[in-house]
Amino acid sequence: MAHPVTVLISGGGSNLQALIDRQAGSSYEIVQVISNVSGVGGLARAAAAGIPTRVIEHRAFASRALFDAALGQALAESGAELVCLAGFMRILGPELVQAWSGRMLNIHPALLPSFKGLHTHERALAAGVRVHGCTVHVVRPALDDGPVVVQGVVPVLPGDDPAMLAARVLEVEHQAYPLALDLVASGRARVGDATVELAPDQPGLVVHPALAGARWAIAGAPPVS
Ligand code: GAR
Repeated sequence: MAHPVTVLISGGGSNLQALIDRQAGSSYEIVQVISNVSGVGGLARAAAAGIPTRVIEHRAFASRALFDAALGQALAESGAELVCLAGFMRILGPELVQAWSGRMLNIHPALLPSFKGLHTHERALAAGVRVHGCTVHVVRPALDDGPVVVQGVVPVLPGDDPAMLAARVLEVEHQAYPLALDLVASGRARVGDATVELAPDQPGLVVHPALAGARWAIAGAPPVS
């Protein structure tokens, strides 16, 4: 049985598109897309797929609590069992997060718990890390916190600028989010307090092709084949 999902967006919606594209035969069905910004590309993507859309503009509300209340009501009305934040750029208050405890997922463009917050690719480059990526996690009240469902890893390559790195990360995001949502919806990922327990055959990991072909390469040691 496919479990109803509502997706929250604020922008272009390429992750939403990935969720739509992998929906057939999965354990989830997107029943509504809600944006806090009108006119964004993700709304057009949803409409093109025949998915009902709704716009709830945060700017129309006097406070975060009032926006959260309206959003909470819309989520309840949508009939969703699960909520996916896909490029949703508003921080939700603890009450709304608590109401969806264990049933709300987010995708973050970094390997959490590293690089929470914004400008993750610039910060990864500035820190000189060799791998970077994305994390699909269960939403907890603290920002970019919560049990990991799936991570996607990419190499940081010489000459990368933030846009190049972002594009590479986005490739694994588009694999990681549909996988993570299907795992949670199907019960093959069980959400615990601190961690997510995966089905035994499921590593919960997406590896970018530029890393997948890599061999162990430790300075001074022969490569392991
Ligand atoms: C994605 O890279 C997503 O990880 C990021 O915004 C982008 C949305 O792209 N999310 C966050 O930064 C959340 N704090 P999309 O609209 O094309 O899916």
